[in-house]
Amino acid sequence: MNVNGKHYRTIWLHPDDEAAVQIIDQRLLPHRFAIVDLRTLEDFEAAIQDMYVRGAPLIGSAAAYGIYVAALQVAAMPHCEAKTFEEKMREVAARLKATRPTAVNLAYAVDRALSAMAAGKTIAEQTRLALQTAHEITEESVAHCHAIGQHGLRLIEEIYQRKLERPTPSGEHRMGPTVNILTHCNAGWLACIDHGTATAPIYAAHDRGIPVHVWVDETRPRNQGASLTAFELAEHGVPHTVIADNTGGHLMQLGLVDMVIVGTDRTTRIGDVANKIGTYLKALAAADNGVPFYVAVPSSSIDWRLRNGLVEIPIEQRDAREVQFISGLDEKTGEVQEVRLTPSGSPAANYAFDVTPARLVTGLITERGVCEAGEAGLMALFPECGGVDE
Ligand code: MRU
Repeated sequence: MNVNGKHYRTIWLHPDDEAAVQIIDQRLLPHRFAIVDLRTLEDFEAAIQDMYVRGAPLIGSAAAYGIYVAALQVAAMPHCEAKTFEEKMREVAARLKATRPTAVNLAYAVDRALSAMAAGKTIAEQTRLALQTAHEITEESVAHCHAIGQHGLRLIEEIYQRKLERPTPSGEHRMGPTVNILTHCNAGWLACIDHGTATAPIYAAHDRGIPVHVWVDETRPRNQGASLTAFELAEHGVPHTVIADNTGGHLMQLGLVDMVIVGTDRTTRIGDVANKIGTYLKALAAADNGVPFYVAVPSSSIDWRLRNGLVEIPIEQRDAREVQFISGLDEKTGEVQEVRLTPSGSPAANYAFDVTPARLVTGLITERGVCEAGEAGLMALFPECGGVDE
């Protein structure tokens, strides 16, 4: 997607140095657009753990590139033989997997890279296979997000058509109805490689000339909505309004939300959805107000081994500081500052994700189409995954 009119992805191989990967440092957005080089395993660990990169699909792609860069590092160690290389790469895999627990894309990408590398006869060949796998995972994510956009577009078109047929209530302008979509956190191109998941249908509808407006949950404590979703919607010219997290339910009661679209970090085979903390509360409000609640799910974010999300999905707990402090731009100094919100003696808990049970999800928007949030629906679209042992 574009930033200042120039097309960007969120991660790419350094154009002049095949031993380095470049990313957009999302911690500084929207106030600073900085590109960072990742050259070591430690760089990738920090980039994922400290959220220079975040969002399930991007975490997966970054982990795959991390395996490649680490393979270069290990191969360069003195007297590195095949056996040592494999042992070291297993350690590398464990370290990358340990960076963040909830987004299944991370383990999926690391395991896929290691099993692809195993086909290599030499260290050099295994390293080349690691890079090839990182590229494949990255290109698949772009294609899946684009497909999710097209399948989700039809849902927005249906709502638009229904609103067109309905007589215009007073106060709604003559230009025809707007489709008001609420989203939580950032499941946009910044969380993926391009297009986004939850935002892909929104961009597709906007580009098709359907009037859309997005209610953007700020998404405390790290404000991915206020800082990242608002940034990318503004860059694409999509009308949007940032709201405090507790506002969505009220807007639904007032009939000002036509649908909710969110992303997912891990969805189980029965359709239970883990996503940014606060998503479950939006699903409850949507159910109470008859507002359709959709989840955009690339198959790389489905964990076919799991059923009961609340019991089986590991939920990350992050540093209390993220709740006790908030960062933003000091407009006087132009610096991004962190300031304390809470009394210094008050402890804080920081659950990063929650689980929305399938019963509250209207449908899953996958790269293969839209299905009900349940095993039958997912198996109909992904029959080959039926046999994945639980
Ligand atoms: O903590 P984050 O910013 O990595 O959380 C991101 C989310 O919860 C996204 O909604 C999810 O990863 C889907 S991204 C397409």
